[in-house]
Amino acid sequence: MKHDLYQQAASLFGILSHPGRLRILDELRKEQACVCHLQAVLERPQVYVSQQLRVLREAGVVTDRREGTLVYYRLADSRVEALLEEMLGSPGERTCVAGCPCPGCQAEARPEFARLDQAADGTGACCPENGGGMSNDLLRQAVRQRYSRVGRSGGCCGPAVSSCCSPAPQAAAEGVGYSEAELAAVPEGANLGLGCGNPQAIAALKPGEVVLDLGSGGGLDCFLAARAVGETGRVIGVDMTPEMIDRARAAARKGGFTNVEFRLGEIENLPVADNSVDVIMSNCVINLSPDKPRVFCEAFRVLKPGGRLAVSDIVATAELPAELAADLDLYAGCVSGAAPIDALERMLKEAGFAEVRIAPHDESRAFIRQWALGLRVEDFVAAATIEAVKPRDADEHR
Ligand SMILES: C[S@@+](CC[C@H](N)C(=O)[O-])C[C@H]1O[C@@H](n2cnc3c(N)ncnc32)[C@H](O)[C@@H]1O
Repeated sequence: MKHDLYQQAASLFGILSHPGRLRILDELRKEQACVCHLQAVLERPQVYVSQQLRVLREAGVVTDRREGTLVYYRLADSRVEALLEEMLGSPGERTCVAGCPCPGCQAEARPEFARLDQAADGTGACCPENGGGMSNDLLRQAVRQRYSRVGRSGGCCGPAVSSCCSPAPQAAAEGVGYSEAELAAVPEGANLGLGCGNPQAIAALKPGEVVLDLGSGGGLDCFLAARAVGETGRVIGVDMTPEMIDRARAAARKGGFTNVEFRLGEIENLPVADNSVDVIMSNCVINLSPDKPRVFCEAFRVLKPGGRLAVSDIVATAELPAELAADLDLYAGCVSGAAPIDALERMLKEAGFAEVRIAPHDESRAFIRQWALGLRVEDFVAAATIEAVKPRDADEHR
C-alpha cells in the first residue's frame, strides 16, 4: 500500500519536474483554459501544448470538458492545487489573450498574445476543435507558411515534433517507396522528403501521356513522370507556394527537362484546361485542402474522359482526439486534415468518378510515427493509395 503511494508521488513529481507542464498547471490553477490560450501564454506551438496536456490528462492531473466546439482544461482536484501552492506560492494574475473565448479572456485582451485570431480572414477564430471548425483561410495560411519555408530552405519544415517532411529527404523518400535508382534520376533539390507514397507505382504512365501533379512541391514526381511519358508526353506541376514553384523550375533547368512545366495555382482552382489531362497524380497534398470536394471536381473537369487518378495521400482511420484535431501544426503536417476513407469515396463519386479504390497501407505507421513523435498519430491516420477513373462517357452525363 505504502509502496503504491510512493510510486504515485514519484510519478507525480516526475510529471511536475517538466517546466512546460508546470507552466501549464500554473496557468490552469488561475482558471480553466483552452489549448490556444495556453499556446499563447507559453509561446510554444500548439502541438507542444497538446502533447503536455495529454501527459497531464493521462496522469489524472488535469481534466478536460467540451463546451460547444471548444475543449477546456482545468486542474483535476484541490490536492494538485495545494501541491502547486507549496511549490510555486500563490497564483498570479491570469494572462488575457486577445480573441480567446476562454472565460476571463474577454476583457483587456493583450494584443501581443493574439495569434490565431489574427488570421488573414479576420474571423477571430480561436481554439478551433477540428479542421472543419477552423476557417479555411486560417488552414490555408498555415499550409502556405509551412511549405513556403520548406521551399525556401529545402530543409524540414519543423516545428520539431510535427511534419509530413523529414530532415533526411533521401531516407524519407526511400521509406515511403521510392527506389534508389528513381531518386538518383531526379535533379538535386527536387526531393524534399515530403511524400507519403510513390504515385508512380500505381500510375502506370505510358509514353505520350499528359500528366498533372497536384501540389508538386520540389517536383520529384513530375521529373519521374517526365521520364515515363517521354518527349512526346507532357507533365504539369501545380503548387500554390511560389517558393516551391521557383525550386521546381530551377531543378527542371538544372536537369534539362523540356517536357515539364510548373504553374502557380491552387488545386481547388486548377490553372489547367478542361478535358486535357490523361493522368492526375498527387502525393500527400489533398489532405491539406480544406475543400476536398472542390479538388475532386476540379480533377474531374481537367481529366480527359477515360483519364485516371493515381494518388498517394493520408486518410483518417480513426477519429483524432480533440486536441490533435485542433492543432494547426498537425494540419499543415498532413495529419489532422485527413478525411476518412468512406467520406473520400463519397466525394469522388459525387464528383463523377468511377472505379474508386482507396487502399490504406498498414506499413505507413512506421514513418507516420516519426512525424509527431509521442502523439501516436499513427493510430489515427495512414497513408493510402487513391485510384479512380473519369468514365469515358462522362461528358454525356453532365
Ligand atoms: C506535403 S507537400 C508534398 C509535395 C510533393 N507532392 C512531394 O511529394 O514532394 C505539399 C505540397 O502541396 C502544396 N499545396 C498544399 N495545399 C495546396 C493547395 N490547396 N493548392 C496547391 N498546392 C498546395 C504545398 O505548397 C506543398 O508544396
